[in-house]
Amino acid sequence: MLRLHKMDIDKPARKILNGHQSKVIWFTGISGSGKSTIANALEKELHKKGIRTYLLDGDNIRTGLNKDLGFSEADRIENIRRVGEVAKLMVDAGIVVLTAFISPFEADRRMARALFETDEFVEIFVDLPLAIAESRDPKGLYKKARNGELSNFTGIDSPYEAPKNPDFHILADKEELDAILSSLLAKIIF
Ligand code: ADX
Repeated sequence: MLRLHKMDIDKPARKILNGHQSKVIWFTGISGSGKSTIANALEKELHKKGIRTYLLDGDNIRTGLNKDLGFSEADRIENIRRVGEVAKLMVDAGIVVLTAFISPFEADRRMARALFETDEFVEIFVDLPLAIAESRDPKGLYKKARNGELSNFTGIDSPYEAPKNPDFHILADKEELDAILSSLLAKIIF
């Protein structure tokens, strides 16, 4: 049986040193919904305020830590499990972690949330109708999925379970980026 080793420098000590609380800001939404764009813009604002941040992004993490994973249900579950654990280490390290992953399954988002204290996890649903994401198709992936060149594509032949009770629900086709940022900055407490 493994036992946790209690270190002298802990999360409360790092919070005092940093001057702010650490937490996870978890973005979820279909491909092309704007998760990375909003997370990137929010990180810039937090950085300007002197908050220590790190952005974990699906496309990036999948070229390194998670490059052994694809898009089957099992691989997506493992992807989100690892991201949750990495985010937990970073929160322990005193960092405000922003994550931008489709994270399509309710159960996995719940598992990720369960790794943290209540005030340490903020779930943001970036809600863009599939038809709009598909018409924009910035990476050309929806087209490939429709042509059968990509399988298990979220929204096409793999499900997206929309959050029922997110902390923030962004209507990505109706709200401007500046307004989204102001409301997030006003309501998320560090
Ligand atoms: S997740 O479902 O496991 O959370 P993640 O956010 O890491 O997905 O990766 C999604 C990104 O991978 C998409 O934005 C897209 O660029 C790319 N991608 C490649 N194949 C697929 C696919 N089959 N389904 C969804 N996204 C895919």
